[in-house]
Amino acid sequence: MSLPQKDIGPHYLEEKEEVLVEKINTRKKELNGQLLLLSHHYQQESVYRFADMTGDSLKLAKHAAGAKDRNYIVFCGVHFMAESADILTSEKQVVMLPDLRAGCPMADMATLDEVQWAWEELSNVIPIGSLIPVTYVNSSARIKAFVGKNHGSVCTSSNAERVLTWALDKGEKVFFFPDEHLGRNSASALGIKDEEVVLWDRGKPLGGNPPDKIKQAKILLWNGYCTVHMQFSADHVQMWRNKDPEIKIIVHPECRHEVVAGADIYGSTETIINTISSSPPGSHWAVGTEINLVNRLNNQHPDKEIHSLSPFQCLCSTMYRIKPGYLLWILDNLVEGKVENQITVDPETAEFARISLDRMLKI
Ligand code: 13P
Ligand code: SF4
Repeated sequence: MSLPQKDIGPHYLEEKEEVLVEKINTRKKELNGQLLLLSHHYQQESVYRFADMTGDSLKLAKHAAGAKDRNYIVFCGVHFMAESADILTSEKQVVMLPDLRAGCPMADMATLDEVQWAWEELSNVIPIGSLIPVTYVNSSARIKAFVGKNHGSVCTSSNAERVLTWALDKGEKVFFFPDEHLGRNSASALGIKDEEVVLWDRGKPLGGNPPDKIKQAKILLWNGYCTVHMQFSADHVQMWRNKDPEIKIIVHPECRHEVVAGADIYGSTETIINTISSSPPGSHWAVGTEINLVNRLNNQHPDKEIHSLSPFQCLCSTMYRIKPGYLLWILDNLVEGKVENQITVDPETAEFARISLDRMLKI
């Protein structure tokens, strides 16, 4: 969700880089022991370098949950990540997002009203107790709470297959939202047949499906997507195969199925980093994920050839909203005892959302 952001003025936004670096480091020292600065791998380098801990969504959620001694958690990522951190931390801990406009368009593609409406419609066609909801962590706290109430679990890009297996053990069918592609790629990896996977078009009655198709389905996929990962295509895979016989292709599972099927490896941002970092010197890689991560890998491994899978810059423009000036503004205020941009989830939503997050952490 994108929220209005206070104007912080040119003082922060037009400051020279070296001044910002010095001031942020000073503020971090002043807040030592109280502050935890988390950064997702898609953050731009000018922000990422200040992180105490970095990670994919799962790792960051675990870091937040484990940081019991820190009063302040500044989350350089997007809104749903900061919400998860708030849910997993205690009431006394404060979670902040440096720019409130840093939302995730995919998370916004499944609202609670839409999901509840779909659930209601489905209850007229199938025994609803046999349907297990699974939500990708890229979703609002309200959706996670709905899933918690209805005996389902959250998943991330690094455990979606495990969570789907758990859900299919528990019920007969899974309703997976909001990312069609992570759902389809995970179902395919588990050997679930194409005809057992049904797309739920959120704009149409019964998701645009006849009742019989729903009855026969094993997995119902909400038709949400990530605009960044939709920019990679099977043609890009072919282009690299033609151009470089030594190339290895690694992609994020938010890419379309034909891209994932054509790749050598797929996985979360953390998996992508670990796989490339541990590959032998001289390896060639084409990477299907956000450009800040690809550029960082390229800079860190001059002994390897690392390219973006797409010739275009696939940038997560909402992650990109977090700039060093906003980070300094948050820290300046904290040092003066003022909290800006706090992300809070109301207690009832948090209680049920925690159930679905805890289920995932246990699976
Ligand atoms: P990871 O959990 O793999 O870091 O992915 C988060 C995300 O938003 C990818 O678009
Ligand atoms: Fe959302 Fe895509 Fe950005 Fe990830 S890369 S935060 S899914 S818009």
